[in-house]
Amino acid sequence: MNILAINGSPHPNGNTAFALEHALAKLRSLGAETRLLDLAELSILPCGGCFRCIGAACIHHDRDDMHLVEETMCWCHGLLLGSPVYMGMVTGLMKNMMDRSVTLRVNGWQMSGKVGGGIACGGFRNGGQELTLQNMQTFFLQQDMLAVADGPRFSHSGAAIVGKAQEDALGLQTVENLAEKIFSAVQNHQQ
Ligand SMILES: Cc1cc2nc3c(=O)[nH]c(=O)nc-3n(C[C@H](O)[C@H](O)[C@H](O)COP(=O)(O)O)c2cc1C
Repeated sequence: MNILAINGSPHPNGNTAFALEHALAKLRSLGAETRLLDLAELSILPCGGCFRCIGAACIHHDRDDMHLVEETMCWCHGLLLGSPVYMGMVTGLMKNMMDRSVTLRVNGWQMSGKVGGGIACGGFRNGGQELTLQNMQTFFLQQDMLAVADGPRFSHSGAAIVGKAQEDALGLQTVENLAEKIFSAVQNHQQ
């Protein structure tokens, strides 16, 4: 089972990175192979909205790193998105990647049936973690994926961190639950 985590934070060692690594460690302990992509370390130009990607390569294909993200998204069975909450939503880095991944949708629905789950890290309680997770769920549904939340015992919208990830024991429990949920959903629906 292949699991890809994508970090939408500008900080490769921040709260989102910690939470994602916590989830990936759990997934590896269950037997998954994992990869992590930091969007902050990649160059991804904004979608030009031209739809010239239908049946062809994106106009940016040879000019940025989005093809690496697409290739790894195709490799995975389960996709774990992690984003800090910015102004109550996913970061621009994350949204930019989401827009560009339209190429996978318009060229044969390449993400169809894969499992997706989200982690949102905010500085404050009620800071927008739920809407940020819903941004991710909408993305999964637009890609014809299966969206999962963190599952019992809490089962809300996914994994949510408040403040410093290392110190948020309850938040990290939702991260572990989400990892288990992704693993079981991939086992049941993929491979
Ligand atoms: C531009 C900006 C906007 C932010 N907006 C919110 C917000 O709406 N709600 C919130 O709870 N935290 C907000 N934060 C705080 C971050 O979500 C929080 O510090 C998060 O843990 C950062 O994750 P990182 O360490 O992975 O980058 C904002 C931070 C920045 C820089």
